[in-house]
Amino acid sequence: WPAFGLALAVGYLLGSIPFGIVLTKLSGGTDPRSIGSGNIGATNVLRTGNKKLAALTLLGDMLKGTVAVLVGFYVLGGPKAALVAGLGAFLGHLFPVWIGFRGGKGVATYLGVLIGLAWPAALAFAAIWLSVAKLSKYSSLAALTASVATPLIMWFAMGHRQAALLMALLAALLWIMHRENIARLLSGGEGKIGGKG
Ligand code: G3P
Repeated sequence: WPAFGLALAVGYLLGSIPFGIVLTKLSGGTDPRSIGSGNIGATNVLRTGNKKLAALTLLGDMLKGTVAVLVGFYVLGGPKAALVAGLGAFLGHLFPVWIGFRGGKGVATYLGVLIGLAWPAALAFAAIWLSVAKLSKYSSLAALTASVATPLIMWFAMGHRQAALLMALLAALLWIMHRENIARLLSGGEGKIGGKG
């Protein structure tokens, strides 16, 4: 148990780095909390008009999940510690202590955790996200679809049972964090990718 506590804490600390805010601050850009959806993620950083910063936000928020899983696996005790560290990173991204526990919605970090746990499943996630995003132009709809489909693919087609259960839990949290997006999708008011939001 102490090892799992450590994995959760290390994961949380890594996940709580809000790259969207750190990168926009460092470059003197617009704080994503003041525009569009007000979210700190890559989709909303893109609404500041800076594609490079949006890409770097995606990369940072993703890799912190991957690093947490790898540290859990190789340093903190193996496959179970990797799952716990991944959970910690996701919770850290959603509820970062540094910015009043108002973090992101979890899409990039979900993908990063997935890369660390089962990279072929991450390819499936990316393919689904890209297809839905291309067809609909809604980042949120793409994430909602891919986050639910991926644990099912992992459970039924890949046999990654424990990782599939963790990803299902993360998907449930991701959906809760997207509740305003879901309401906007249903009412037709959701902002499209690259639009003003
Ligand atoms: O990563 C979050 C994305 O799914 C939606 O972002 O800014 O449109 O709420 P946003």
